[in-house]
Amino acid sequence: MTIDGKTGVCALIGDPVEHTLSPLIHNSLSGTEGINSVYTAFHVKKGNVAAALKGAFELGIRGFNVTVPHKEAVIPCLSDIDPMAEAIGAVNTLCLTGKGYKGYNTDALGIMREIRECGFDIKGEKVILLGAGGAANAVLHALYALGISGAYILNRSVDKAREKFGGDKRNTVLSYEDAGKIEGDDHFCVQCTSVGLHPDSGRAPIEDASFYKKISRAVDIIYNPGETRFMKLVRDAGGRAENGLDMLLYQAVESFKLFHGVSVSREGIETARQKLSEAVRGLSG
Ligand code: ATR
Repeated sequence: MTIDGKTGVCALIGDPVEHTLSPLIHNSLSGTEGINSVYTAFHVKKGNVAAALKGAFELGIRGFNVTVPHKEAVIPCLSDIDPMAEAIGAVNTLCLTGKGYKGYNTDALGIMREIRECGFDIKGEKVILLGAGGAANAVLHALYALGISGAYILNRSVDKAREKFGGDKRNTVLSYEDAGKIEGDDHFCVQCTSVGLHPDSGRAPIEDASFYKKISRAVDIIYNPGETRFMKLVRDAGGRAENGLDMLLYQAVESFKLFHGVSVSREGIETARQKLSEAVRGLSG
């Protein structure tokens, strides 16, 4: 593409940002969708996000993705916030408005789209969630938005999980050791911990094979490696398991739509997916 006086700028802000795949996805989408905009990454240290956004507003920077450590800290700096992002208490997308930046959470939209596109119908089900960090929080909101009736939430630190999620009567918080208390053999499960992430890819939060007999469909939010140990255990027990690559892709697609006010073509998504898959293979290679 040709960069000219009308080229818009979007970027990721976080600390660290050097290894991000977001520029790859967004610049691919700009190319295929014919949008005159570039996407880069800015290293913004903890405590500096308000100053960064003040400058960005004056510069007319069109949109941002926000990552660690700013997803919660950025909220007081916004001129407006989408209700789902407000409910989650974390923002990963900012869009320029006349008054400042409006915040959204496309992490939640990304997992919703991945689940829908996989054909997993989870409406009315009580699902299983592994983990209780920021990612688990966004995923749980997405699952309720998709119509689940409740969730078993399993975490290493049970007290932390109980404090965060135990107030909602639809949730049952359990330790990994108590996973046997979950009845049934047709559950949907999302793995939201960092256990199994490259290079520590030989591990899963739960090893007990009997746990995996309860799961028929699963998503691991990790995308590197392409098949995590959690996914392998689900598959070995006869279930279907997907990795988090499409969640990453779709959160970027949803951010792109918000930044530029456009829809994104199937071909554009396919091209970005291919580039992303290649890049991820390169990361673990
Ligand atoms: P994120 O925002 O990406 O979710 P986080 O808030 O640090 O990151 O949460 C990481 C999740 O991975 C938590 O559920 C954490 O469990 P604890 O709440 O008990 O810390 C889980 N996790 C990280 N390392 C783990 C390990 N070695 N064993 C089990 N769970 C682990």
